[in-house]
Amino acid sequence: MSQLHHIRLGVNIDHVATLRQARRTAYPSLVEAAAACERGGAEGITIHLREDRRHIQDADVFLLRRHLRSRMNLEMANHPDIVAIALEVKPEEVCLVPEKRAELTTEGGLDAAGQKRELGATCRALRERGIAVSLFIDPDLRQIEAAAELQAPYIELHTGTYCERTGAAAVVELERLRQAAAHAQKLGIRVNAGHGLTLDNVGPICMIPGLDTLNIGHSIVCHAVFVGLENATRAMAQKLIHPA
Ligand code: PXP
Repeated sequence: MSQLHHIRLGVNIDHVATLRQARRTAYPSLVEAAAACERGGAEGITIHLREDRRHIQDADVFLLRRHLRSRMNLEMANHPDIVAIALEVKPEEVCLVPEKRAELTTEGGLDAAGQKRELGATCRALRERGIAVSLFIDPDLRQIEAAAELQAPYIELHTGTYCERTGAAAVVELERLRQAAAHAQKLGIRVNAGHGLTLDNVGPICMIPGLDTLNIGHSIVCHAVFVGLENATRAMAQKLIHPA
């Protein structure tokens, strides 16, 4: 008899802050946004405190820490000032991502294999503070080996390339993601995934065995324009089922 495995949904609310920063207003409230996501079935709230502070601000991180009912996943670059904020706020999880000032959104995964020394100190500091570290990486076996050496309990597989491809090319990317997830799980690493996921392209990702959490932002906030954030979250949460 088949059992259904439920994959957790982490909603990235950066773009609720993008709307606010477009006019430098006090609204919309990120605390209300997070609560709506939680009512819709989010088991975590993801925010990316970028060095350029283009959407999430420092005060948002501290305020959300006090009000979230679900897990906080703080995405950030390995930059000393931001690491200091993470150590103070103590989110349940920190996802280390690469960051370039001019990019529209995170482009590609972290080069964990090439930055083991720099990442090692940060991973250790976060671990000692009781924060679960996740490394945002491409589905590349070398990067997974590096994550294991860095003793990261989680990786987040970058699904952006899969989302950009169509047809046979998307199937190739999906297979890379599946193999990467299996390899990480064999090494005892829990596997999250995200970037570019929508209601239309998330189905095949859910077929990858053993996924822990999918972090999804832009498409949910866009859908929310029409149906509200709680309903948009619910629509996505209901799709995150693995049939095993
Ligand atoms: N995961 C990571 C590491 C990200 O950087 C982002 C974008 O901030 C997401 C997930 C969410 O991507 P999207 O907004 O395309 O759903």
